[in-house]
Order: sequence, then C-alpha cells, then structure tokens
Amino acid sequence: KKRIFSGIQPSGELTLGSYMGAIRNWVDLQDEYECIYCIVDMHAITVRQDPALLRKRSINQLAQYIACGLDPAKNIMFIQSHVPQHAELGWILGCYTQFGELSRMTQFKQKSQQHQSNITAGLFTYPALMAADILLYQADMVPVGADQKQHVELTRDIAQRFNGLYSDTFTLPDPFIPKMGARVMSLGNPENKMSKSDPDGCVFLMDKPEDIRRKFKRAVTDSDMSVTFDRENKAGVSNLLTIYCAATGKTLEAAEAEFAGQGYGVFKPAVAEAVVETLRPIREESERLMKDKAYLESVYRDGAQKAQYLATKTLSKVQRKIGFVAR
Ligand code: TYM
Repeated sequence: KKRIFSGIQPSGELTLGSYMGAIRNWVDLQDEYECIYCIVDMHAITVRQDPALLRKRSINQLAQYIACGLDPAKNIMFIQSHVPQHAELGWILGCYTQFGELSRMTQFKQKSQQHQSNITAGLFTYPALMAADILLYQADMVPVGADQKQHVELTRDIAQRFNGLYSDTFTLPDPFIPKMGARVMSLGNPENKMSKSDPDGCVFLMDKPEDIRRKFKRAVTDSDMSVTFDRENKAGVSNLLTIYCAATGKTLEAAEAEFAGQGYGVFKPAVAEAVVETLRPIREESERLMKDKAYLESVYRDGAQKAQYLATKTLSKVQRKIGFVAR
C-alpha cells in the first residue's frame, strides 16, 4: 500500500480553505492508502501562540479531523510533538538544506512580513521540519492545498540530495493537489488566500449557519452580474463558483448553466446554503467529540505510538548513514 502523510498547524481554527484544500481529500484517500495525519504543533510555535489555546486547539483539531470523516481505525492520527523523531530528523535535514533554498520559500517571505518584529530561526527552518514529517514515514504522496506545493517540492529536493550523497534512504514524495478547492480565496478580498488571520473573509469549520450566511452575503463580487468563471476579471465570483462546486461536487460548466441568467441575489445564498449543509454535520459531530476528552486522548496516544514505531525505523537508518554512533 502506498503511504500518505499530511498535517495542519493548530495555530487557529480550521477553515473552509483547509477543508477543501486538504482534509476533504484525506477522507477520500483513507480507504486506498495507508494514511498518517498529524497535528503539527511544533510548526505552530514558529509564530507566538497562547499556550492554553494551543493545547485546546490541538485536541479540538483531532476531534474535527474525525468529524470530517477520518476514521481513527483506518488512519494514524497524532500530535507532532509526541513523536520526538520529528525534531531529531528536522535538525539533521536542516543540515542538508541550503540557506538560499529556505530564503526562496513564499510562506516564509509572507510570514516574515506579517511578523516583522519576531522572525525566528524556527520560522526560517520550518521547511526542514516539514521535510522531516514527510520523509520519516516514507510518504509517497502529500495531499495539500496549492500553497504547500513549494514545500513538498523542497522536501523532494532534500530527499534526492540525501539519497545521492549516501544511498537510497527516502521515498520521493509527490504533492497531491485537488482540482477543485486547491486555493480557496478570501471572501472579502478574493485576491488573497482565505486564511485564519482574516476572520471576515474566512469561513471556519465551526461557524454557525447564520455566520456562514452573513459572510457569504458580504462576499465581494463585481458589477457585471453574470455567474461565470473568469479568475482574472471576476476573482470574487470565480472563487464562489469554486467553493460551490467543491461543496456540491458539480462541475464548473454545470454550475454556470444552473445560474445562467440569474443574478448574484440568487447565486450567493445558494453558495452559502451549499456550505452550510456541508459543514453542519461536521460541526455537530465535532461539538459532540470535543466533549469526549478520554476518547480523543486514546486516539492521539495510540496514534503517537504507531507513528513512533515507523519514524524510528527511518531515523535509525539516517543516523547510521551519516555517521552517528549507534546507541
Ligand atoms: P496549514 O496549516 O497552513 O494549512 C493546512 C492545509 O490546508 C491547506 N489550505 C488551503 N487550501 C486551499 N485554500 C486555502 N485557502 C487554504 N488554506 C490552507 C494548506 O495547503 C494545507 O494543506 N506547512 C503546512 C503544515 C505542515 C504539513 C507538513 C503539511 C507541516 N508539516 C507535512 C503536509 C505535510 C501548513 O502550514 O499548512
């Protein structure tokens, strides 16, 4: 069986973007592949976090993974900091990553703009830790949104370099990017990616129906009134169309035909309802699961144990190859 690895930072609430770009596809992949899904708290601390909130979000994020349809019996789900091999391999891979490569990462460039007064070494070396996450498990595929493609490509380069220097050690991973929903844009500013740092333009998985309807009502469109896909000239409407298609499973052509001759007054509420109905069962199940702390604890403990078993195999191999003395 081919192996899949992916993760999301518990640095904020899960968004419609992370659902459509990533989690939704994780659910589709769980039957065919051996899947490992992580809550990457070590990545989250590359920018300052409130400790109590980080702890709460890490656990709630697991509840939400399960509520989205990830079955703990089929997938390994765990919290990154519970498997110290990530930190160990992250350090090692940092020594096989070029300063210049890290400097070219767009996520670093953006985040160092946003957090100008606190650009940490961790924020800079973040992609080496992400490479460790993926390579520890010899993942074949990494299902992510379009914004993470560059990091997966760097991971591949690091793996290739390491394999070349020593001998075949790491599987080269491919990014898996969905056709629909790979880049969900902000509702308020459709030139920008939907992100948790922009609460008005962002729909959260746990938003109540009335919040979702309000956010879509205010979504930026244009003065042209036709529901057609045109990323360049109609960014807002194109984004809403993509969200509608990702939520309903319809094609762009079918959606355009459905709203032909109708204005945004019909279109926007229809998109809102499609999202409300997609998220409703997820929110309800999350709320139920979040109360069951003992169950969640059993899932992430069991996950960490299984993950650690796999991670240790790769890490020992790496340590031996680079010349560390066996313990
Ligand atoms: P993160 O936590 O920012 O985002 C989580 C996942 O959601 C996707 N995503 C989106 N997709 C479409 N439209 C959007 N607006 C949108 N916003 C977020 C992201 O592409 C991602 O798949 N570096 C990673 C976390 C990570 C990771 C890993 C991922 C750490 N180690 C190993 C895969 C494998 C990140 O910052 O994702």
